Amino acid sequence: MYDFAAQTDLPKPELYSSLARAADALVRGEPDPVANMANLAATIWQFLPDLNWAGFYRVIGDELVLGPFIGKPACIRIPMGAGVCGTAAALGSTQVVPDVHAFPGHIACDADSRSELVVPVLRDGRVIAVIDLDSPSPGRFDAEDAAGMQLIAQVASLTI
Ligand code: SME
Repeated sequence: MYDFAAQTDLPKPELYSSLARAADALVRGEPDPVANMANLAATIWQFLPDLNWAGFYRVIGDELVLGPFIGKPACIRIPMGAGVCGTAAALGSTQVVPDVHAFPGHIACDADSRSELVVPVLRDGRVIAVIDLDSPSPGRFDAEDAAGMQLIAQVASLTI
């Protein structure tokens, strides 16, 4: 059993430090990428409040393909450059979207989503996946969330 006793009311820097420690402990020494993505998605879901979707899209060829996640069933394939996820993957840069309806080309997988954070996972300078978080609250994510999730993307980088 894993019991990380997530304290979701911590200030964001401390919250993400504790999430990163839990994530690292979970995936360390485990070589299976699907198991690691599944446990990382579940841990993110456990630690971060006010989410309606959390998970992975993997870069396969010239598109993103759905990976392990928590939330409602989602779009399976996203062309590189399309939507928030495809933009993050194509540019290799984190996308903080306070209002998904204002993002040109946003792909609606869950009608409840109002804001979104997508962080690329890089290995050897190449984007191999993105981590996508959706929230039902507008403006849920800020620069502290982006920096915190980049720590989790680093944990993912060597283990997925
Ligand atoms: N909204 C994303 C699609 C993935 S779902 O949110 C799970 C996008 O615009 O790329």
